[in-house]
Amino acid sequence: MTDAELELTMEEKTEIDNIEVMPEPSFESAAPEAKKVKEEKKPGVQDLPGVGAATAEKLQSAGYHDLMSIAVSSLGQLCEAAGVSESVARKMINAARDSMKMGFETGLDILAKRELVQRISIGSENFNTLMEGGFETGAITECFGEFGSGKTQVGHLLAVNALKADSTATVVYIDTENTFRPERIKQFCDGVGLDHDDALSRIMVAKAYNTDHQMLLAEKVDSLITEQKKNVRLVVVDSLTSHFRAEFIGRGTLAERQQKLNRHMHVLSKIANSHNICVYLTNQVMSKPDQFFGDPTQSIGGHIVAHASTFRIYLRKGKKGSRVAKLIDAPNLADGEACFMVTENGFQDI
Ligand code: GTP
Ligand code: MG
Repeated sequence: MTDAELELTMEEKTEIDNIEVMPEPSFESAAPEAKKVKEEKKPGVQDLPGVGAATAEKLQSAGYHDLMSIAVSSLGQLCEAAGVSESVARKMINAARDSMKMGFETGLDILAKRELVQRISIGSENFNTLMEGGFETGAITECFGEFGSGKTQVGHLLAVNALKADSTATVVYIDTENTFRPERIKQFCDGVGLDHDDALSRIMVAKAYNTDHQMLLAEKVDSLITEQKKNVRLVVVDSLTSHFRAEFIGRGTLAERQQKLNRHMHVLSKIANSHNICVYLTNQVMSKPDQFFGDPTQSIGGHIVAHASTFRIYLRKGKKGSRVAKLIDAPNLADGEACFMVTENGFQDI
């Protein structure tokens, strides 16, 4: 990135900082305040060398709540957030890394972790078979397809099934296109026999107004878990790319957009991994006019989104109003397709 581009980013940042209308990041829910659970004493940010009360507070407000966030931070980021010198930041990172026992694990350790993975059902047997039981926790699943292909329906249905599977579960829904519909949640609840009010009270919805707001909301998920003690099982971002697409227009802005999107994906992947959460992202497609063979559509966000997603599903409209889900990228599942109909109360196999 050139200096000129960097300056532009900084200017834009200040501009965005100055916008007063940007709403506070908050998730809405009818759920009563979670009772504060008594915390057991674990080494925290304040126990690191060179961290006094003031620095600890700065770190907290910059989103560094635990040792893991320090351990994986870069020197520059930490210096900026804590207002400390590079050598102090290096000591903090090293101490956090030592205490985290980060390093190599045996295949058996990984296998044990894999056993903690849960699968959120989508109701349709065809779709579940495609995903070998459902959408995995601890991973990002991206679903892309043209308008009306059913990406948002999948998000709603997953939310209801996640709540049905665990009566203490909370779902976070980051809505960028204003398409979250409580009425649709109610219909899907009827399909699985779940109480409407109970389900809706456990879905925390936040509308994202622009890319910065969207990124901030994703960062706040961590505090829903650590501070508000919510048992978040699913995070939906619908859609991942619409604001990015609208804000960064033209080829000249591509590098900056991808960089920002990369940071966002990084946060989402950290949420999935560190809290064993299922992250579901929807993505739009654009047409590739120069493509003569095969499907002339391509997902937005390019390699950044594709590589950060563990599972990728391409959703398209099939014959007679059906929908076809095609698994196109998965580390441990065979590629394949599932056909179903979107109905009032869920997905019906054909
Ligand atoms: P964009 O967000 O515009 O890119 O589309 P999307 O992929 O999110 O599509 P969405 O999930 O909103 O799917 C909309 C489609 O779902 C509609 O065209 C209908 O076919 C179907 N659908 C939505 N609600 C109902 C319903 O109540 N009953 C039935 N049978 N189908 C529905
Ligand atoms: Mg949609």
